[in-house]
Amino acid sequence: MQPIPENAERRAALGAEITARTGLDAATIEEVLRAFYGAARQDPLLGPAFAGVEDWETHIANLARFWGSVALMTGDYHGQPMQAHRPLALTPAHFTRWLALFEATVRTRLTPEGAGHMLERARRIARSLEMGLIPLDLPARRVPAGAPA
Ligand code: HEM
Repeated sequence: MQPIPENAERRAALGAEITARTGLDAATIEEVLRAFYGAARQDPLLGPAFAGVEDWETHIANLARFWGSVALMTGDYHGQPMQAHRPLALTPAHFTRWLALFEATVRTRLTPEGAGHMLERARRIARSLEMGLIPLDLPARRVPAGAPA
C-alpha cells in the first residue's frame, strides 16, 4: 500500500475516511451548528454571552471553518479561539451548559459515530478553553505560624 503523503492530499484522504465512517461532512456540520447556535442564543445562561455577536452569518462561517478543521481535517481555520473568548468572563457553568446543549444537538442530528466524533473534540477543546480562561480555585498557601505576613 502507498503511504499517504503529509499534505493537503493526506488531509483530504483522512477527511474522506472520517466522512465514510461517521456521515459527517461540511453540510451536516453546518446544519448542526445552525441548530446549536439557534438554541444557544435562546438559552438563559448562554444567550447573554452571545448578545454581542454582530454578524451571525460571519460567526457561523468561522465556526464552520473551525469545525471543518477540527472534525474533518480541512486545515483552513486560522483563528484564535482563546482570544475570542477572553472578554466574555465565562464561568465553569457556561462550559457545562454549552457542552450539555452541544451533546443534545449532535445526538439528535447526527449518526452515533458522527455525534461521538464531534463530542469527543468539543469536550477536549472546551476543557482546554476553560483551563486557559478560568483561573483554578486552588486553596490558599498556608503561611507557617510565626512567619512574617
Ligand atoms: C462556554 C460557552 C461559550 C460561549 C458563551 C461562547 C461564545 C462565543 C462568542 C460570543 C464568540 C465571539 C463571536 C463573535 O464576536 O463573532 C465565540 C467565538 C468562538 N467560539 Fe465560543 N463560546 C463558548 C464556548 C465555545 C467552545 C466550547 C468552543 C469550541 C468547542 C467554541 C468555539 C468558538 C470559536 C471557534 C469561535 C470563533 C473564534 C474566531 O473568531 O476565530 N466556543 N464564542
